[in-house]
Amino acid sequence: MLLDLIEERKSIRQYLDKEIPNEDLNKILKAGYLAPSWMNSQPWKFIVVKNNETKDLLSQLSGYQPHVKNAPVVIVFIADKNGWSKEEFSKVLSNNGLAESAIEKILTKPMLYPSLLGDDKVLLRSVEQVTYAVSYMMLEAKELGIDSCVIGAISNEATVIKEEIFNKVNEVLNLSKDDVLITMLTLGYAKEKEKTNKIRKDYNKIIYFEKLN
Ligand SMILES: Cc1cc2nc3c(=O)[nH]c(=O)nc-3n(C[C@H](O)[C@H](O)[C@H](O)COP(=O)(O)O)c2cc1C
Repeated sequence: MLLDLIEERKSIRQYLDKEIPNEDLNKILKAGYLAPSWMNSQPWKFIVVKNNETKDLLSQLSGYQPHVKNAPVVIVFIADKNGWSKEEFSKVLSNNGLAESAIEKILTKPMLYPSLLGDDKVLLRSVEQVTYAVSYMMLEAKELGIDSCVIGAISNEATVIKEEIFNKVNEVLNLSKDDVLITMLTLGYAKEKEKTNKIRKDYNKIIYFEKLN
């Protein structure tokens, strides 16, 4: 059951020196590829990093988090701002089977086309999109017995810490001005079987029915 996987999954930060078979990696990537997105816009790109030097740079970007360097694979999630451009967005809508007149209408409505609200909102919505792909990959990985950890503590456009390392990573990953590194996911096999201990806030402080108390 999916809920069993969710209950068992925990963030793992120490990995065995063991490669992930390509077949499994492809399944993980496919899960992200098939994740839902705003009007099926898929404004993202996923970069699979195995190269040690690149992983070292990505670790530096995350404030030297060691698991970024030690994981056999790091997936880098890029928000593709170009995916929100009129041209690209229209293409996607057209591929979804929408008529030109419907597409024109959508492009005038800020609720349906966030680009009308400016760059900040596009970035916000991009983070939202990428999150689904990350979650899908993380769960598919768990299903395959592969552990992971989301790495959100990084310098990027959202944190606006444009240090030297930020520029270097952009260069090494060959990112254009429309490509924004949003987050990363480390993948590998846990060094030690860690007992899952879900520490969460009280269930009834989080879940409500009909309205908040
Ligand atoms: C958006 C996001 C960013 C995170 N950033 C980091 C990070 O930079 N480094 C890290 O070691 N863990 C990171 N985590 C993992 C969380 O610390 C972890 O999910 C949380 O403590 C709950 O533990 P669990 O995943 O084992 O259930 C991040 C998780 C999320 C969802």
